[in-house]
Amino acid sequence: MAINKKIRPQWTKKSWEEYKALQQPDYPDRNEYKNVLERIESYPPLVFPGEVENLKKQISEAGKGRSFILQGGDCAERFIDCNDKIIINKIKILLQMSVILTYGARKPVLRIGRIAGQYCKPRSKPTEKLNNEILPSYRGDSVNKFEWGAANRTPDPARLEKAFFYSVATLNYIRAIISGGFADLHHPYNWNLHSIEKTREWPKYKETVEKILDAINFMESFGGIKSELLGRVDFFISHEGLHLGYEEALTRKDPVTGKYYNLGAHMLWIGERTRAIDGAHVEYFRGISNPIGIKFSHKIDSEELTDLIDILNPNNEAGKITLIPRIGIAKIEDYLPGIIRKVKRSEKSVTWSCDPMHGNIIYTAGNIKTRNFDDVLTEIKKTFTIHKNEGTNIGGVHFELTGDDVTECTGGALNLTDTDLNDNYETYCDPRLNYTQSLEMAFLLSELLN
Ligand code: PEP
Ligand code: CO
Repeated sequence: MAINKKIRPQWTKKSWEEYKALQQPDYPDRNEYKNVLERIESYPPLVFPGEVENLKKQISEAGKGRSFILQGGDCAERFIDCNDKIIINKIKILLQMSVILTYGARKPVLRIGRIAGQYCKPRSKPTEKLNNEILPSYRGDSVNKFEWGAANRTPDPARLEKAFFYSVATLNYIRAIISGGFADLHHPYNWNLHSIEKTREWPKYKETVEKILDAINFMESFGGIKSELLGRVDFFISHEGLHLGYEEALTRKDPVTGKYYNLGAHMLWIGERTRAIDGAHVEYFRGISNPIGIKFSHKIDSEELTDLIDILNPNNEAGKITLIPRIGIAKIEDYLPGIIRKVKRSEKSVTWSCDPMHGNIIYTAGNIKTRNFDDVLTEIKKTFTIHKNEGTNIGGVHFELTGDDVTECTGGALNLTDTDLNDNYETYCDPRLNYTQSLEMAFLLSELLN
């Protein structure tokens, strides 16, 4: 392959501009866009290099099978959801799931939210048609409005600055929740299991919950283990690094080490649609020191993937690369084994995750975008089996989920059907597992890890 083996010119925060940038909004007012980016560049960032390095170390542990990554959150965050109740619910479900997984896996679980910056979306089509009117597609709250209308859909740079401040407010509250003891696991009231208690599967899960609470009580009964320890947890934030102007504005040089970090998130991932080796996203990502996720479908060629890893992680640093296949249940068995073998043969240090959501999107007869709980679970099960057969380690999972009682995915213990989807379908982009479905997924995954 020519392009990737070629020595590239020196990386700078702006060198991506020399490459083809897909999925970028077309701002009518370029001047205002430039002003907004300058202001974002002048604000204090969200995270600190030490935290980013800490996460990289922990991801490397997951790669070696010593911990397990739970990454999850909205497909697209919405400005209107930036409030205490919704943020608390999102953190709560991720914490609860992580406790259930820790119990099953008997190893630490690393929590990474798709949160505090997941405001920009790649789209399969640049435009949408409704009643004979063609308008730009919704690209996430940081770019344009979801509601139909020419003015709403025009990319507005002011929204980018808003997205920055919403991200700051969200992360600030997450830090407060965590440091204030919300993660305190010995308060069963925090568990709020009413919805799942009504289901047929409950007796099975109840036993797990009782054992977990019992284990917590047991640990607490030792004088040496302070309850403080049980109450304090790490929580990291991540989003797709899609909007390159925004990501560049949050890229800062660490004066101590001279390394560049994107300090708008601890971890960022490159999406399936923007992972082209000769594209601007790969050029941008190769210069930052953050841990990077690479999402890919069956369309990737295994050679292309190892070339991509070479460019993004030339020194083969552990914890730097998380591979997140999102292939779907129909094709995973045909494609994933070959890809795993090629990566294994190349001796590249990677952490394997699994996104069981994006390859399993279906549409109902009424054209509602959904996913079925069993399909999601099946992709995870298949992934576990494939890794077992290949002698590799599955280090984590990546979900689209929320802590609220939405009706976006079908199935699960509550057995949501196509007709139930209309009850509380909130997402602006992809369907998420709701609170009960997420809890149930954690119980089932916990059994698998066990
Ligand atoms: C996503 O994570 O929301 C997404 C768009 O994923 P992918 O790039 O894998 O399609
Ligand atoms: Co999505």
